[in-house]
Amino acid sequence: MSTPMGFGRMHRKEDARFIRGRGNYVDDVNLPGMLHGAILRSPHAHARIVSVDTSAALAHPKVRAVITGETLAGLNLAWMPTLSADTQAVLATDKVRFQGQEVAFVVAEDRYSARDALELIDVEYEALDSVIDAKKSLDEDAPLIRDDHEGRADNKIFDWEAGDRAATDALFERAEVTVAQDMLYPRVHPAPLETCGAVADFDKVTGKLTVWCPTQAPHAHRTLYALVAGLPEHKIRVISPDIGGGFGNKVGIYPGYVCAIVGSIVTGKPVKWMEDRSENLMSTSFARDYHMRGEVAATRDGKIQAIRVKVLADHGAFNGTAQPTKFPAGFFGVFTGSYDLQAAHCEVTGVYTNKAPGGVAYACSFRITEAVYLVERMIDVLALELGVDAAELRMKNLLRSEQFPYTSPTGWEYDSGDYQKTLQLAMDMAGYDALRREQAEKRERGELMGIGLSFFTEAVGAGPRKHMDILGLGMADGAELRVHPTGKAVLRVSCQSQGQGHETTFAQIVAAELGISPDDVDVVHGDTDQTPFGLGTYGSRSTPVSGAAAAMVSRKVRERARQVASAMLEASPEDLEWTVSESGGSWTVSGTGVGKTIQEIALAAHSNLELPDGVEGHLDATCVYNPPNLTYPFGAYICVVDVDPGTGQVKVRRFIAVDDCGVRINPMIVEGQVHGGLADGVGMALMQLMAFDEDGNHLGASFMDYLLPTAMECPSWELGETVTPSPHHPIGAKGVGESATVGSPPAVVNAVLDALRPYGVRHADMPLTPAAVWRAIQGNPIRT
Ligand code: CDP
Repeated sequence: MSTPMGFGRMHRKEDARFIRGRGNYVDDVNLPGMLHGAILRSPHAHARIVSVDTSAALAHPKVRAVITGETLAGLNLAWMPTLSADTQAVLATDKVRFQGQEVAFVVAEDRYSARDALELIDVEYEALDSVIDAKKSLDEDAPLIRDDHEGRADNKIFDWEAGDRAATDALFERAEVTVAQDMLYPRVHPAPLETCGAVADFDKVTGKLTVWCPTQAPHAHRTLYALVAGLPEHKIRVISPDIGGGFGNKVGIYPGYVCAIVGSIVTGKPVKWMEDRSENLMSTSFARDYHMRGEVAATRDGKIQAIRVKVLADHGAFNGTAQPTKFPAGFFGVFTGSYDLQAAHCEVTGVYTNKAPGGVAYACSFRITEAVYLVERMIDVLALELGVDAAELRMKNLLRSEQFPYTSPTGWEYDSGDYQKTLQLAMDMAGYDALRREQAEKRERGELMGIGLSFFTEAVGAGPRKHMDILGLGMADGAELRVHPTGKAVLRVSCQSQGQGHETTFAQIVAAELGISPDDVDVVHGDTDQTPFGLGTYGSRSTPVSGAAAAMVSRKVRERARQVASAMLEASPEDLEWTVSESGGSWTVSGTGVGKTIQEIALAAHSNLELPDGVEGHLDATCVYNPPNLTYPFGAYICVVDVDPGTGQVKVRRFIAVDDCGVRINPMIVEGQVHGGLADGVGMALMQLMAFDEDGNHLGASFMDYLLPTAMECPSWELGETVTPSPHHPIGAKGVGESATVGSPPAVVNAVLDALRPYGVRHADMPLTPAAVWRAIQGNPIRT
């Protein structure tokens, strides 16, 4: 495949190392004299710690240190802040509050000895009653989980609301038709292929701490380590090497990271700690766990007027949700979706339960997955009530292109959209009418075929710094660009790739702006000593924020090049025009064809050419990009399923996905992102659930129980695109990394419920496993 000068299909530059086994992950980091850590975890969901006896473990010949909550308390490190400004125990001192919570950390000469020594630690627990069901967490007799909070009397974390309650209620009172539905977006896990881990190396001589760790936000981690541990920030280096998938799981700081750091400080040696799969599934950030009730008010002829929502959000034992401070329920406020309605109101109550903390945006922008699922299920419930086709109902209510920029009833300003066109394309690709005919014929024969739609609007690219932050750190991203004398460039960005191909697409952005080949641009990321400050990669924010920074810094360099070219050509800068031909970019004297290529300019910028006053020479620039708004990608998805009435098995036969993420930098990477997200959606809709028994025992701590979708469960995806540029993004791009994860679950669920329509099933909660579908067919209640 030839390399395009700017945007276009191009194989990932990263593939050269990934497909040759040359990736460098945190577990590949091996330092001289390195020791290994292991974590002792609680077997109880809720218990008081009576005593911890480490003497036998310390006597193990290969053990170098055993760290307990008490050790950390002595250093004022027993508790750390979470991303929602709550606190989380690093190692438990008073109580354990979920099964799998960190209790002690052993440092030994090898991983096996560290694990063996865990068995030698004797912890006496006094078991306490636990709260596992969020719906019971606010009962009067519910055990108090966070008794470490002074003055706390219950398990409530927050109440939050958005929209206009009075206007919404008034519309409901007058409405010709109202529907209501309870639904659960179950607790699921991002489950990246690579688990979490860290290598910490504290150098006592220089006082420098280096931490290798697969973090999605290296700069934020460094600042938090400095604030929490009191270490000088310039003496901390966080290196995020290649990451084997993050999906939100690698945004926060986990106790194991802090333990590795303390282990290194205590022993004076580098310490590695790597989770195993069960630890990752049991103790690191989960996602979703929203118990939702949606209501829609509409006219009899199908015009939606208002939406009302109540949510109970289960945040686990510590509020570790990653959300901007102003938005404790993330961007759930975008729950009005893609529809033109008059008023909306939602209330969200967050509660503690005895489950692992987290509530991360698993491949989504801060809870928008839950919002999209809710509204897209409600549209189907309304369609059923009105007896109209679900596609027709959507088409009638979608926002129209002339309404953009559109301010939603909950105050979000959607930047651009042409929704009807996108839905129509998806319907044309699917052959929608023919599918409905096929379905009608099959129903006659007792065969269960379902067609499910979803139309989603995402809100990605957090965020304008005056509205959005993480723990007070503003969400603007830095970029630095240097063009070397021979015209080769290095771009340094603050965001961090976990496999999304930033080294390719960001090089393409610079290439397009400077008229050079992307092969001539290297992208540096993931090392706080090498890159400018920024808040990292999640919520599809890389392209909307760091991608914009890459374009803006390139434009600054191009302007610098104009000044140098003006000296070279002895022409006024105003008389120069920027042109990009097949041979590259150049500044040319208008109307003459005489000009200098960017490579010639780069060489001259570093030469002894005399430059006008105020022009420094060299060819580099820095910038900080503070986005004026989020970007709002959208899409129309259609899923076709066949359901076996005998077993309840669902087969996803076809999936049509039309995505609009504005201008596509690299359509091949975009398609890869969409493929991955669609597979994620099939997984959540049909097979994934972090299940617990009533004592809080985790029932899905391996991939034997917590199922990941494979090629066997996925059809050959049928992708389409429309392009509605973002008006405020410098290259018109919107984020896309998470669109498909957000948009696909409701399409699959709507398809299954459409298939079950002959049985009168209106709703069933995910995951729609064969057992769940079979139970729904029997008319039995669904276990959640
Ligand atoms: O933040 P994250 O990288 O997860 O998400 P993203 O910004 O949506 O980007 C995912 C990948 O798709 C990156 O390599 C982007 O540069 C690429 N992309 C693209 O080529 N064109 C777009 N309009 C959006 C993203």
